[in-house]
Amino acid sequence: MSRVHKTARVRNLRYIKFMPDGSTPAGSTVIVRPACTVRGVVRIPGDKSISHRYAMLAAIAEGTSRFHNFSAARDCASTLDCVAKLGCEWKRSQDETIEVQGVGPRLKAPPEVLDCGNSGSTMRMLSGILAGQPFTSKLCGDESLSRRPMARIMKPLSEMGARIEAAEGGRPPLIIHGGPLKAIHYRPEVASAQVKSCVLFAGLYADGETVVEEPIRTRDHGEIALRAFGAEVERTGNASRIAGGQRLRAIEAHVPGDLSSAAFFFCAAALFPGSQITLPGILMNPTRARLLDILVQMGLKISVAHLEEHQGELVGTIEARGAAWKGAVIAGADTAALIDEIPVLAAVAPYTDDGLEVLDAKELRVKESDRIAAVAANLRKMGAEVEERPDGLRIPGRQHLHGAELDSFGDHRIAMAFAVAALRAEGETTILGADAAGVSYPSFFEDLRAVTSG
Ligand code: S3P
Repeated sequence: MSRVHKTARVRNLRYIKFMPDGSTPAGSTVIVRPACTVRGVVRIPGDKSISHRYAMLAAIAEGTSRFHNFSAARDCASTLDCVAKLGCEWKRSQDETIEVQGVGPRLKAPPEVLDCGNSGSTMRMLSGILAGQPFTSKLCGDESLSRRPMARIMKPLSEMGARIEAAEGGRPPLIIHGGPLKAIHYRPEVASAQVKSCVLFAGLYADGETVVEEPIRTRDHGEIALRAFGAEVERTGNASRIAGGQRLRAIEAHVPGDLSSAAFFFCAAALFPGSQITLPGILMNPTRARLLDILVQMGLKISVAHLEEHQGELVGTIEARGAAWKGAVIAGADTAALIDEIPVLAAVAPYTDDGLEVLDAKELRVKESDRIAAVAANLRKMGAEVEERPDGLRIPGRQHLHGAELDSFGDHRIAMAFAVAALRAEGETTILGADAAGVSYPSFFEDLRAVTSG
């Protein structure tokens, strides 16, 4: 235990050790040792997608909103920082409850640049609200966000009447000259819930009815949150419609546990027959829950209890037990529905009986990192065979992995996915830049350590 980090927070680690590592600018290094079972209860932090939307809509609502179990993710802190610069005060009380004082539809011109950090959701969705403001705002992000495509929101917002400047190739920083907007019927080329929410939020400021008709159904937290705040949003087929000029009123809500964060624990349990984990209060929204179907198909035993609805979002306690671990093919609408969980499914795919094939996933190349390349590079370092394709991956099953020195590529989901894969590898795995996990799940390594044993 001589190399264990000095802080009390990480003392007594048995299977996962945290180490200070001056050589990785991104921060801490985590060492993961093999485990042989996963057992216990994990309280998963509030859903990131819902937390972003609640914070943004609360800012433009009338009255004070209160959110319990609001995500502790760094990404959501970026959203809160931005809304504060736009004149909206918020405070965090005990636990993960935050209060946001809405200022109504007209925000204040920000005195400085709005820093979205690593958060594509903050930049893309907030842009919809900023497009309708009578002022100019500038949004920037970190190195990863500065590489991500913004043309997908610039196009509809420009059609609505906003003038938007961006760096070459439609990358951040963005300068949004807001103003009066006109309603549009928009058919995005990429299936993206961020784009859909961005356009619907802008639709609140438009004259007439704005429609977003998506190529594939994406997560509907934007629509559900808008309704919770009192707006009327209609859904017919793949189209969501919103009339401009609707005013929002403050709400009190409990944010469900993030299903995408829960995915790491499901996959960890799947690695060891006999494992059993219980995750209370997890988001069960049908547009996200396709993950559970796939995991069941792959052999994980799942049961759901205490189903409830909170502000239109379905929530339940999920119990998962490791049994067989079969392979899967993920393609088309499933790829879009599982886009955030593919890194962890791919990282544990070598341990399946029949492997995993992921198709139609070129969006993975423009996430926080190029997730296809990152998964392939790390799996190869662990000795796995993997076929990398322009828009997917094929990973054979029944492979034997060994520990290695891996990179998070500054990407939260890559850091967490490979901590899980490392649990069944032979020998120790070092994850450089592991603190990236805090972008969505700051207590991830502590939570994983608490339920793994060797
Ligand atoms: C999100 C939508 C997805 C997802 C992201 C969160 C959202 O992105 O990958 O983590 O909250 O709407 P895209 O809209 O780019 O597919």
